[in-house]
Amino acid sequence: MTAQRYDRVARLLHWLIGALLLAQIAFGFLLDDIAPRNTPARAGVINLHKSLGMLLGLLILARLLWRLTHKPPPWLPSLPRWQQRAAHWGHVLLYVCMVTMPLSGYVASNFSKHGVKFFGTPLAPWGPELPEVYKFFNGVHVVTAFVFSALIVGHVLAAISHLLARDGTLHRISLAPDTESDDR
Ligand code: HEM
Repeated sequence: MTAQRYDRVARLLHWLIGALLLAQIAFGFLLDDIAPRNTPARAGVINLHKSLGMLLGLLILARLLWRLTHKPPPWLPSLPRWQQRAAHWGHVLLYVCMVTMPLSGYVASNFSKHGVKFFGTPLAPWGPELPEVYKFFNGVHVVTAFVFSALIVGHVLAAISHLLARDGTLHRISLAPDTESDDR
C-alpha cells in the first residue's frame, strides 16, 4: 500500500501539542481544586497556568505557520466525501480553538491588575485595569475551553473509528518512521 503522510515535523508537532493541550485543559479545569480562590497558593498556580499557556501558544503558532506553508497529504480515496468535509471543518475548528485559548487568556490578563508573568518575568502590560473587558475575554477563554473539549472528544472518537477500520488514516499522522512503501 502506498500511503501519503504528513511530514515528520507536522507529525511531531501534532502529538507534542496534543499531549500538552490535554494537560493544560485539565490543569485549567482543576485550577479551583488545586488552589481555591483567595488562598496563598492561588497566585503561583495561576501564574504557572499562564506561563505554560504562553509557551503552548508559541508552539501552536509554529504549528499553524507550518500547516499554512506545507501541503497536507490528500485524503485517502476510500474516505467518503462527507467524512472528508467533516474532517476538514473539524480540523479548521480545532485550529481556531488552539489559537483562541492562549490568545483570549493573554488578552484578558492584560486588562487585569495581575498582568502576565512568564515563568517569573513580568511581561510589559499594554492594557489598563478594566474588569469588564477582563470578564469578556475570560468568558471567551472559558466558553472556548468547553467547545474545544467537545471537539477533541469528536476528534478522538473519529481516530478510534479509523483505528478499528484499519483504513490507514492513523498511519498518516503516526510517529512511526517512514518505510519504503510510504510515498514521502
Ligand atoms: C492553550 C492554552 C490554554 C489552555 C488550553 C487553557 C485552558 C484553560 C481552562 C480549561 C481553564 C478553566 C476554564 C473554566 O473556568 O472553566 C482556564 C482558566 C484560566 N486561564 Fe487558561 N488556558 C490556556 C492559556 C492561558 C493563558 C496564556 C493565560 C494567560 C496568560 C490563561 C489564563 C487563565 C486564567 C486567568 C484562568 C482562570 C480564570 C478564572 O479565574 O476564572 N490561560 N484555562
